[in-house]
Amino acid sequence: MIHVIDFGSQTTHLIARRLRDLGAEAEIVDPDEAVKKATREKPAGIIFSGGPLSVYENGAPTVDKKIFDLDIPILGICYGWQLMAKLLGGNVASAHKEYGPTNLRIIDFVDLFYGLPAQSRVFESHGDSVLTMPEGFMVLGSTESVMYAAVGNKEKKFYGVQFHPEVHHTNYGKVILKNFLTRICNLPLTVKRLDTKTMIDEIKQKVGTNTVIGAFSGGTDSAVAGALVAKAIGKQFIPIYIDSGLMREETLEKITNVFPKLLGVPVKVVEARKEFLQRLQGVIDPEEKRKAIGRLYIELFEKEMEKIPNAKFLLQGTTYADFIHSQGSKRSAHIKSHHNVGGLPKEMKLQLLEPLRYFYTDQVRKIGLRIGLPKEVVYQQPFPGPGHAVRIIGEVTKERLEKQVLADSIVVDEMKKSGWYTKVFQCWSVMTGINSTAVKGDGRFYGEVVALRVLQSKDRMTADWAHLPHELLARLSTRIVNEVPNISRVVYDITTKPPATMEWE
Ligand code: XMP
Repeated sequence: MIHVIDFGSQTTHLIARRLRDLGAEAEIVDPDEAVKKATREKPAGIIFSGGPLSVYENGAPTVDKKIFDLDIPILGICYGWQLMAKLLGGNVASAHKEYGPTNLRIIDFVDLFYGLPAQSRVFESHGDSVLTMPEGFMVLGSTESVMYAAVGNKEKKFYGVQFHPEVHHTNYGKVILKNFLTRICNLPLTVKRLDTKTMIDEIKQKVGTNTVIGAFSGGTDSAVAGALVAKAIGKQFIPIYIDSGLMREETLEKITNVFPKLLGVPVKVVEARKEFLQRLQGVIDPEEKRKAIGRLYIELFEKEMEKIPNAKFLLQGTTYADFIHSQGSKRSAHIKSHHNVGGLPKEMKLQLLEPLRYFYTDQVRKIGLRIGLPKEVVYQQPFPGPGHAVRIIGEVTKERLEKQVLADSIVVDEMKKSGWYTKVFQCWSVMTGINSTAVKGDGRFYGEVVALRVLQSKDRMTADWAHLPHELLARLSTRIVNEVPNISRVVYDITTKPPATMEWE
């Protein structure tokens, strides 16, 4: 067992997940409980997570110094390393802020960096740096601007890294974590297989003879959740598609023709396009938007439920990433409310059924394939629950929604034609709400700027913009300004996550 002490990083859960993937047991622990719990349970190792604050800030989370007397190996990540340095007598100061990839030069390959090349890409996201190391520590690696990017006190088995080994952008992050587990904590690793039979049995048991109505969107998460439930309880499952008009146009076609065959049960379509537009009238704030959409979805479901008196459960395809984005860990900063979690009303008549709540996208896909869903469903691009509404910055009007649907369909079309659609994680257009000047025909014209967002990502916690060929970008730009009414220009968003989120809102 490894204890991951949570100092509020967005990636605390990701650390735990990486450890589990490597075959270790991992538990997230609150700093206030850390010493008591570690004394009692004697984990093989402890990881200090990153965190959003500076170690000297008021209210910055800390941990009892006794943690260093327990004779347990510790790895501090980012804030975790800075805190370790401060508590052990080193010095931390606000330094050159760094967000993004950088190059790590390794000096010592013995344990933490065993098997790594001399230089590799690591991902940093920090404002502070350690200026003086505590006694007994030596440098294991540096980046251009951070001297103590990786350090260790080998005698005590305390290690610190300024970068994030848990994110995909750190090329050898998994190897570093594995080295910590096997070479420093001496932990034997056993990788577990995803057990879909148990998942299906658990649903059967939980639901009994009751009826489940399903929030069915046709996306990977809801399709996998739906197929699991359909396998478990067959016709006791009633999938419902709320046609909000905020989804991609091809979705409705798949819902009516493809999914009933795949699931073996019909999908009920509820037409609600006008109602959604009405609810979104005058709503500008992104959080309000998500909540308004979430509320309306639930209201409509509750109406459907009344038509199905014995319905007791509401199926949702919520995954771990949705949950973390919405609520984070106890100490992390709130980023945005994904509509399927944060937007739920407090009083709900239905009980939630969320079989994918503890799985990330890549695991959800594996589950889908294992229960027989086709690749086109399992590997389709994710589409956010609030749909085009969070891709239209500012108010969603009928006219702007039409423009967005058209621009987005051009993006999908060109990406598919060029073979890039399946090479990226997600692609879409954004109605930015900014107007700019253009010349169309012979006249001056003032119209909306469209942004393109095309991303590579594995688990949605981090993302990189896709390096699309210039010819493809040129085609997208030409088609959008020509075919979509009132568009003045097209720009390409080249921001990684972090710092930017994937969606603009
Ligand atoms: P962000 O913008 O948080 O997006 O970096 C991460 C991933 O989540 C999707 N996303 C959502 N999905 N409801 C959803 O179901 C939402 O409210 C929502 N907001 C973002 C986004 O498309 C990306 O894949």
